[in-house]
Amino acid sequence: MTANELREKYVAFFVSKGHVQIQGKSLLPDNDPTVLFTTAGMHPLVPYLLGEEHPAGTRLVNYQKCIRTGDIDCVGDFSHLTFFEMLGNWSLGDYFKEGAIEMSFEFLTSPQWLNIPIEKLGVTVYEGDASVPRDEESAAVWKRLGIPENRIAYLPREDNWWGPAGSTGPCGPDSEMFYYIGDAPCNKDCKPGCACNKWLEIWNDVFMQYNKNAAGEYEPLTRKCVDTGMGIERTVTILNGKRSVYDTEIFAPVRGAVEQAAGYTYGTDEEKDKSVRIVCDHLRASTFILGDPKAVSPSNVGAGYVLRRLIRRAVRHGKNLGIATDQPFLSPIAAILIEQMQGPYPELMENKARIIEELDREERKFLETLQKGEHEFEKLLPNLLKDPRKIMPGRLAFKLYDTYGFPIELTEELAAENGMKVHREEFDEAFKKHQELSRAGSEQVFKGGLQDHGETTTKYHTATHLLHQALRLVLGEHIAQKGSNITAERMRFDFAHPAPMTPEEIQKVEAIVSEQIQKDLPISFAVMELEAAKASGAIALFGEKYEAQVKVYTIGPAEGFFAKEVCGGPHVERTGILGKFTIQKEQSSSAGVRRIRAVLV
Ligand code: SER
Repeated sequence: MTANELREKYVAFFVSKGHVQIQGKSLLPDNDPTVLFTTAGMHPLVPYLLGEEHPAGTRLVNYQKCIRTGDIDCVGDFSHLTFFEMLGNWSLGDYFKEGAIEMSFEFLTSPQWLNIPIEKLGVTVYEGDASVPRDEESAAVWKRLGIPENRIAYLPREDNWWGPAGSTGPCGPDSEMFYYIGDAPCNKDCKPGCACNKWLEIWNDVFMQYNKNAAGEYEPLTRKCVDTGMGIERTVTILNGKRSVYDTEIFAPVRGAVEQAAGYTYGTDEEKDKSVRIVCDHLRASTFILGDPKAVSPSNVGAGYVLRRLIRRAVRHGKNLGIATDQPFLSPIAAILIEQMQGPYPELMENKARIIEELDREERKFLETLQKGEHEFEKLLPNLLKDPRKIMPGRLAFKLYDTYGFPIELTEELAAENGMKVHREEFDEAFKKHQELSRAGSEQVFKGGLQDHGETTTKYHTATHLLHQALRLVLGEHIAQKGSNITAERMRFDFAHPAPMTPEEIQKVEAIVSEQIQKDLPISFAVMELEAAKASGAIALFGEKYEAQVKVYTIGPAEGFFAKEVCGGPHVERTGILGKFTIQKEQSSSAGVRRIRAVLV
């Protein structure tokens, strides 16, 4: 069965059950500051799952393009994808557990639809905890339909609970459907979760019963809903008995084009196969992001940053495959993909010129970056060669990565060409720290306008905390941050205050910040409950959405600290390295909001 056939069957089945087909939405969600991308089919439907009436009624079906970047580093294996399509059916206060499961079962097993033998299916249901009971109701429906008890696994919240997609929103227990990818289950009690690892999840029925609010509490929804999601790529894989999504007709045109560009036959070398898979996945994701009506371009912030990473990683793996870099190679392959996917996604053809142009521009830019990185490496070389052990310090390799975007693999290659090795542990440590600090960047939006996590912007970020507290000391506790914007050259800080600051006030604020820098105060963070954070004196921004668990940064000693704020980071380790802090300008930003522009020199 092809992806086109699966899409059509799914929609036809649910239409025959009284559902109305609705359009999939943009990959860039509307009015949701908690995520960068549409990560599931339910995403655009959140307001309706929370109680708003949908104009098309209470039974809906569609297919939705999705991006998940949380596992971007796993892409390259046989199953992970950043871009995928999700089929979904929804009940908005209509059927609940019984209806949803009956329809899922019929679609999976009926000879008229997917015709999957029952022996190949296993399911999971929620095992229950102190707040939500064990889901015997779903289990009973599965049993009645013919799924034997020994193929029903009761699993905890980490497996059988879905949502919210961002930090707040609808969520609830779920029941997942699995397909056994081996010949037959390994023993009579082999079920999803079995150590044989051969159960592959293909569909998820979520029973939306709660709304997780900003305080982290689960409020029962007055109208219970169902949200289901079936991954198209995975389902096509199992229905066709393939080992990997990359072996299906979905990937065939793109994979074939990558193989041709590289003059390489897939299946001959494991490392190269992995690069082929990465190029295929990242190119698909980039093409769909660029083809979205919302028109994001590669940049250093938000969704644009993810797009940049995807394109650059694809280029790098293209290079690994030996693809010539004298002219862009991604856009001709994107053109093949656009042709292939234009039926279900006509926006790709409408935006074809833009997709091609942006891909070409970013690929060229990255190739220049690579040249610059090589140049910087050469500048470091004479000193590096003085080391008798021939080890390049990891922190220098990290600097090339952090400042110029120069990939570690290439630094290692250049080092090897000069008889050296990179101190990989030191690099990994610096990288890990950077990753922990920037994890929020993949799907969660940053607080404030931190453009990247380079050393200079991190210093400025710490300076905003010092400034915020200094303003509170000089002007009063009413001072609340309204926004901030940081680049490597300067910081801007907006705060609510009714009047312009006097020159004396500006001077005082500057002096307080400078004093804290001179004291070389340590900066530390702890993770705690939001309420505990507030109780400990941390500033939390009004109107900001927080997780139940937050990170709190303290500047100064635990007792008698100077500033304490709920914040995702990153920050420098000590204030001493900030340098000289100067306020350059204080002006109005909008009604009742002042803006300070300051520099560190
Ligand atoms: N929202 C659920 C998921 O993503 C079902 O659509 O798995």
